[in-house]
Amino acid sequence: MNRSTLADSVSQDLSSLRERYTKGTLEEGNLPKNPINLFRSWLEDALQTEVKEPNAMALATVDEQGNPNVRYVLMKGLSDRSLRFYTNFESRKAGEIEKNPNGSVVFWWGELERQVRIRGEIKKLPEAESEAYFKSRPQESQIGAWASRQSRVVESREELEKSFEETKSRFSDGEIPKPPFWGGYELVFRSIEFWQGRPGRMHDRVEYLLHNKEWTKRRLAP
Ligand SMILES: Cc1cc2nc3c(=O)[nH]c(=O)nc-3n(C[C@H](O)[C@H](O)[C@H](O)COP(=O)(O)O)c2cc1C
Repeated sequence: MNRSTLADSVSQDLSSLRERYTKGTLEEGNLPKNPINLFRSWLEDALQTEVKEPNAMALATVDEQGNPNVRYVLMKGLSDRSLRFYTNFESRKAGEIEKNPNGSVVFWWGELERQVRIRGEIKKLPEAESEAYFKSRPQESQIGAWASRQSRVVESREELEKSFEETKSRFSDGEIPKPPFWGGYELVFRSIEFWQGRPGRMHDRVEYLLHNKEWTKRRLAP
Protein backbone atom coordinates (compact mmCIF):
# COMPACT_ATOMS: atom_id res chain seq x y z
CA MET A 1 0.00 0.00 0.00
CA ASN A 2 1.50 3.37 -0.91
CA ARG A 3 1.24 6.57 1.09
CA SER A 4 -1.74 8.05 -0.67
CA THR A 5 -3.74 4.81 -0.50
CA LEU A 6 -3.19 4.75 3.26
CA ALA A 7 -4.14 8.39 3.59
CA ASP A 8 -7.29 7.73 1.55
CA SER A 9 -8.46 4.88 3.74
CA VAL A 10 -8.15 6.50 7.18
CA SER A 11 -8.38 10.06 8.47
CA GLN A 12 -4.62 10.40 8.90
CA ASP A 13 -1.55 9.43 6.94
CA LEU A 14 -0.30 6.47 9.01
CA SER A 15 3.18 6.66 7.56
CA SER A 16 3.65 10.03 9.23
CA LEU A 17 2.49 8.91 12.70
CA ARG A 18 5.60 8.86 14.83
CA GLU A 19 6.32 8.69 18.56
CA ARG A 20 9.64 9.57 20.15
CA TYR A 21 10.18 7.33 23.17
CA THR A 22 11.85 9.00 26.12
CA LYS A 23 10.23 7.57 29.26
CA GLY A 24 12.91 5.16 30.45
CA THR A 25 15.95 3.00 29.94
CA LEU A 26 17.05 -0.57 30.66
CA GLU A 27 20.57 -0.67 32.06
CA GLU A 28 22.49 -3.83 32.92
CA GLY A 29 23.54 -2.41 36.28
CA ASN A 30 19.90 -2.10 37.40
CA LEU A 31 18.59 -5.42 36.13
CA PRO A 32 17.68 -8.13 38.65
CA LYS A 33 18.88 -11.74 38.24
CA ASN A 34 15.29 -12.94 38.26
CA PRO A 35 13.11 -11.42 35.50
CA ILE A 36 9.92 -12.00 37.51
CA ASN A 37 11.04 -9.25 39.88
CA LEU A 38 11.37 -6.85 36.97
CA PHE A 39 8.06 -8.03 35.51
CA ARG A 40 6.30 -7.43 38.83
CA SER A 41 7.82 -3.98 39.09
CA TRP A 42 6.76 -3.07 35.52
CA LEU A 43 3.26 -4.41 36.19
CA GLU A 44 3.12 -2.30 39.35
CA ASP A 45 4.17 0.76 37.29
CA ALA A 46 1.40 -0.02 34.78
CA LEU A 47 -1.14 -0.29 37.63
CA GLN A 48 0.03 3.02 39.11
CA THR A 49 -0.02 4.75 35.71
CA GLU A 50 -3.65 3.75 35.19
CA VAL A 51 -2.99 2.00 31.93
CA LYS A 52 -6.36 0.64 30.76
CA GLU A 53 -6.50 -3.12 31.41
CA PRO A 54 -2.81 -3.41 32.43
CA ASN A 55 -3.26 -7.18 32.75
CA ALA A 56 -4.48 -7.59 29.16
CA MET A 57 -2.07 -9.64 27.07
CA ALA A 58 -2.18 -10.88 23.51
CA LEU A 59 -1.92 -14.67 23.59
CA ALA A 60 -0.54 -16.48 20.56
CA THR A 61 -1.12 -20.16 19.90
CA VAL A 62 -0.75 -22.17 16.71
CA ASP A 63 -3.25 -24.39 14.95
CA GLU A 64 -2.58 -27.88 13.60
CA GLN A 65 -1.28 -26.47 10.32
CA GLY A 66 1.20 -24.30 12.22
CA ASN A 67 -0.77 -21.11 11.53
CA PRO A 68 -0.59 -18.64 14.40
CA ASN A 69 -3.66 -17.29 16.12
CA VAL A 70 -3.62 -14.36 18.51
CA ARG A 71 -6.21 -12.84 20.83
CA TYR A 72 -6.28 -10.88 24.08
CA VAL A 73 -6.88 -12.54 27.42
CA LEU A 74 -6.53 -11.21 30.95
CA MET A 75 -3.67 -12.31 33.18
CA LYS A 76 -5.33 -13.30 36.45
CA GLY A 77 -2.36 -14.51 38.48
CA LEU A 78 1.41 -14.45 38.56
CA SER A 79 3.97 -16.59 40.37
CA ASP A 80 7.70 -17.16 40.04
CA ARG A 81 7.08 -19.96 37.56
CA SER A 82 4.04 -18.94 35.52
CA LEU A 83 1.18 -16.59 34.76
CA ARG A 84 -2.47 -17.56 34.63
CA PHE A 85 -5.52 -16.91 32.54
CA TYR A 86 -9.03 -18.33 32.35
CA THR A 87 -11.12 -19.36 29.41
CA ASN A 88 -13.45 -21.92 27.87
CA PHE A 89 -11.90 -25.38 27.41
CA GLU A 90 -13.95 -25.91 24.24
CA SER A 91 -12.76 -22.69 22.62
CA ARG A 92 -10.52 -22.45 19.59
CA LYS A 93 -7.53 -21.49 21.73
CA ALA A 94 -8.08 -24.46 24.05
CA GLY A 95 -8.19 -26.85 21.08
CA GLU A 96 -4.94 -25.39 19.82
CA ILE A 97 -3.26 -25.56 23.23
CA GLU A 98 -4.24 -29.21 23.54
CA LYS A 99 -2.50 -30.06 20.26
CA ASN A 100 0.48 -27.76 20.81
CA PRO A 101 1.11 -26.37 24.30
CA ASN A 102 3.71 -23.84 23.17
CA GLY A 103 2.42 -20.32 23.63
CA SER A 104 3.51 -16.73 23.75
CA VAL A 105 2.02 -13.59 25.25
CA VAL A 106 2.81 -9.93 24.80
CA PHE A 107 1.90 -6.91 26.92
CA TRP A 108 2.01 -3.35 25.57
CA TRP A 109 1.97 -0.60 28.15
CA GLY A 110 1.94 2.36 25.78
CA GLU A 111 1.83 5.04 28.46
CA LEU A 112 5.16 3.68 29.72
CA GLU A 113 6.57 2.89 26.27
CA ARG A 114 7.12 -0.70 27.37
CA GLN A 115 6.54 -4.13 25.85
CA VAL A 116 7.02 -7.50 27.55
CA ARG A 117 7.10 -10.74 25.56
CA ILE A 118 6.86 -14.09 27.29
CA ARG A 119 7.17 -17.61 25.84
CA GLY A 120 6.59 -20.95 27.44
CA GLU A 121 4.49 -24.05 27.84
CA ILE A 122 0.79 -23.79 28.61
CA LYS A 123 -0.68 -26.23 31.14
CA LYS A 124 -4.16 -26.68 32.57
CA LEU A 125 -4.54 -25.54 36.19
CA PRO A 126 -5.79 -28.00 38.81
CA GLU A 127 -9.61 -28.05 38.89
CA ALA A 128 -9.70 -26.75 42.48
CA GLU A 129 -7.87 -23.56 41.47
CA SER A 130 -10.27 -22.92 38.60
CA GLU A 131 -13.18 -23.50 40.98
CA ALA A 132 -11.79 -21.03 43.50
CA TYR A 133 -11.33 -18.36 40.86
CA PHE A 134 -14.78 -19.00 39.33
CA LYS A 135 -16.36 -18.45 42.75
CA SER A 136 -14.73 -15.03 42.98
CA ARG A 137 -16.21 -13.82 39.65
CA PRO A 138 -19.27 -11.55 39.45
CA GLN A 139 -22.50 -13.49 39.00
CA GLU A 140 -23.05 -12.00 35.55
CA SER A 141 -19.71 -13.41 34.36
CA GLN A 142 -20.53 -16.79 35.89
CA ILE A 143 -23.78 -16.88 33.92
CA GLY A 144 -21.93 -15.77 30.79
CA ALA A 145 -19.47 -18.65 31.15
CA TRP A 146 -22.37 -21.14 31.05
CA ALA A 147 -24.32 -19.29 28.37
CA SER A 148 -21.60 -18.80 25.75
CA ARG A 149 -20.11 -21.81 23.96
CA GLN A 150 -17.03 -19.78 23.13
CA SER A 151 -15.75 -19.83 19.52
CA ARG A 152 -18.82 -21.71 18.18
CA VAL A 153 -20.94 -20.20 15.41
CA VAL A 154 -24.14 -18.54 16.69
CA GLU A 155 -27.10 -17.79 14.45
CA SER A 156 -27.84 -14.40 15.96
CA ARG A 157 -27.32 -12.03 18.90
CA GLU A 158 -30.85 -13.04 20.03
CA GLU A 159 -29.77 -16.66 20.34
CA LEU A 160 -26.95 -15.61 22.68
CA GLU A 161 -29.22 -13.44 24.78
CA LYS A 162 -31.81 -16.19 25.04
CA SER A 163 -29.11 -18.55 26.25
CA PHE A 164 -28.04 -15.96 28.87
CA GLU A 165 -31.62 -15.53 30.14
CA GLU A 166 -32.25 -19.30 30.24
CA THR A 167 -29.04 -19.84 32.21
CA LYS A 168 -30.04 -17.07 34.60
CA SER A 169 -33.37 -18.73 35.40
CA ARG A 170 -31.78 -22.19 35.63
CA PHE A 171 -29.50 -20.95 38.41
CA SER A 172 -31.92 -18.50 40.01
CA ASP A 173 -31.77 -20.20 43.40
CA GLY A 174 -28.30 -20.27 44.85
CA GLU A 175 -24.68 -20.52 43.93
CA ILE A 176 -23.64 -21.00 40.31
CA PRO A 177 -21.23 -23.93 39.90
CA LYS A 178 -18.22 -23.73 37.60
CA PRO A 179 -19.02 -25.20 34.20
CA PRO A 180 -16.95 -28.34 33.53
CA PHE A 181 -15.85 -26.76 30.23
CA TRP A 182 -14.40 -23.61 31.82
CA GLY A 183 -11.19 -23.00 33.77
CA GLY A 184 -7.63 -21.84 33.91
CA TYR A 185 -4.29 -22.34 32.26
CA GLU A 186 -0.81 -21.35 33.32
CA LEU A 187 1.91 -20.34 30.92
CA VAL A 188 5.13 -21.69 32.43
CA PHE A 189 7.98 -19.28 31.71
CA ARG A 190 10.79 -20.22 29.36
CA SER A 191 11.83 -16.74 28.26
CA ILE A 192 10.86 -13.15 29.02
CA GLU A 193 11.90 -10.14 26.99
CA PHE A 194 11.66 -6.56 28.24
CA TRP A 195 11.51 -3.71 25.72
CA GLN A 196 11.81 -0.07 26.64
CA GLY A 197 11.32 2.52 23.89
CA ARG A 198 14.26 4.90 23.31
CA PRO A 199 14.80 7.81 20.92
CA GLY A 200 16.03 7.18 17.37
CA ARG A 201 14.54 3.67 17.40
CA MET A 202 17.56 2.63 19.52
CA HIS A 203 15.29 0.83 21.96
CA ASP A 204 16.50 -1.26 24.88
CA ARG A 205 15.76 -4.99 24.68
CA VAL A 206 16.81 -7.49 27.30
CA GLU A 207 15.89 -11.14 27.00
CA TYR A 208 16.01 -13.57 29.93
CA LEU A 209 16.21 -17.31 29.23
CA LEU A 210 15.58 -20.14 31.67
CA HIS A 211 18.04 -23.08 31.47
CA ASN A 212 18.23 -25.75 34.17
CA LYS A 213 16.26 -23.54 36.57
CA GLU A 214 18.76 -20.66 36.14
CA TRP A 215 17.94 -17.40 34.41
CA THR A 216 20.52 -15.87 32.07
CA LYS A 217 20.12 -12.59 30.24
CA ARG A 218 21.35 -10.94 27.08
CA ARG A 219 20.82 -7.67 25.27
CA LEU A 220 19.23 -7.79 21.81
CA ALA A 221 19.48 -5.21 19.06
CA PRO A 222 16.28 -3.23 18.61
C1 LIG B 1 -9.07 -6.92 26.69
C2 LIG B 1 -9.63 -8.30 26.43
C3 LIG B 1 -9.57 -9.27 27.41
C4 LIG B 1 -10.06 -10.55 27.19
N1 LIG B 1 -9.93 -11.49 28.15
C5 LIG B 1 -10.31 -12.76 27.92
C6 LIG B 1 -10.06 -13.79 28.89
O1 LIG B 1 -9.48 -13.56 29.97
N2 LIG B 1 -10.49 -15.05 28.59
C7 LIG B 1 -11.11 -15.36 27.40
O2 LIG B 1 -11.46 -16.53 27.19
N3 LIG B 1 -11.33 -14.42 26.46
C8 LIG B 1 -10.95 -13.13 26.69
N4 LIG B 1 -11.16 -12.16 25.73
C9 LIG B 1 -11.80 -12.55 24.45
C10 LIG B 1 -10.73 -13.19 23.53
O3 LIG B 1 -9.92 -12.19 22.94
C11 LIG B 1 -11.32 -14.08 22.42
O4 LIG B 1 -12.25 -13.36 21.67
C12 LIG B 1 -11.99 -15.35 22.98
O5 LIG B 1 -11.26 -15.90 24.05
C13 LIG B 1 -12.14 -16.41 21.89
O6 LIG B 1 -10.87 -16.74 21.37
P1 LIG B 1 -10.61 -18.14 20.60
O7 LIG B 1 -11.75 -18.33 19.66
O8 LIG B 1 -9.30 -17.98 19.90
O9 LIG B 1 -10.55 -19.23 21.63
C14 LIG B 1 -10.67 -10.86 25.93
C15 LIG B 1 -10.74 -9.87 24.94
C16 LIG B 1 -10.24 -8.62 25.19
C17 LIG B 1 -10.31 -7.58 24.10
